[in-house]
Amino acid sequence: MKIKVLVSGSGKMGREVLHALSLEGDMEPVGVVDSLSPEEAIALPGDILVPIERVAGPLISRTRPDVIVDFTNAEWTPKLARDAIEANVRLVIGTSGLPESFLSHLDEECRKRELGAIVASNFAIGAVLMQQMARLAARFYDTAEIIEQHHDGKADAPSGTAITTAKAIAEGHSGPLRVPQTTKETIPGTRGGTTDGVTIHSVRLPGLVAHQEVIFGGPGETLRIRHDTMDRASFMPGVTLAVREVMGLKGLVIGLDKLIGVE
Ligand SMILES: NC(=O)c1ccc[n+]([C@@H]2O[C@H](COP(=O)([O-])OP(=O)(O)OC[C@H]3O[C@@H](n4cnc5c(N)ncnc54)[C@H](O)[C@@H]3O)[C@@H](O)[C@H]2O)c1
Repeated sequence: MKIKVLVSGSGKMGREVLHALSLEGDMEPVGVVDSLSPEEAIALPGDILVPIERVAGPLISRTRPDVIVDFTNAEWTPKLARDAIEANVRLVIGTSGLPESFLSHLDEECRKRELGAIVASNFAIGAVLMQQMARLAARFYDTAEIIEQHHDGKADAPSGTAITTAKAIAEGHSGPLRVPQTTKETIPGTRGGTTDGVTIHSVRLPGLVAHQEVIFGGPGETLRIRHDTMDRASFMPGVTLAVREVMGLKGLVIGLDKLIGVE
């Protein structure tokens, strides 16, 4: 039996996911929902046209998916999740900028219904490894900063990956790091934003996809850990892995690290 997957979002990631699912022998894309899409359908290789529907509820009832994969926007994801959970459909969510309150509510609802859900701020395996390496390095350094770079269409800043990395660094360090202080910031915001004692700088430019460098500073040395996503295809092995894994889960798992054994 193939895993029936509905795709939420017909943007850059939604299209990539739809294409990746169509190449997996054990998965079947059953539809696309996007309430804001100006287009009517997405073309797949082999002249297949997948229609884009505007409303989730009736599409879920009609196609009866096992899993919904969502790459949209933090305003839409909670609405979609409500429809999915009411219909007992598992969720794989890559949308960034989701509030903690939504995640704890999602976990509660999934546990109640013994339903699986996965939320990951980054589905690229290399990015997950970067975070774990940063967690390890943080034991040995008191200061670290993150430079994350994304395409200019990205809605939120900093990236979900940068925030998750900062939290992993603070965990590895057993507490917030020391933030080197500047006495005069001539242009406000130049020093970036700080969370967990890690300062994050967000670059937004056309031509970029998703890139992140973590820089640790110590006496007379720096350590740089860098990950570059050159193509959205890099997220697809993580997405298809999550689709398979979510089938056997009960409750919410946050982060791909727990699924690939590098937690
Ligand atoms: N977790 C990961 O590995 C990962 C990787 C890349 C992107 N992302 C995240 O995935 C999301 C989508 O990225 P993208 O590059 O495909 O963006 P995109 O702008 O190309 O597509 C977003 C889609 O969401 C829909 N949408 C946006 N706002 C909406 C709203 N309020 N209501 C309903 N639909 C809405 C749009 O119609 C669009 O089709 C972003 O949050 C991005 O940060 C996550």
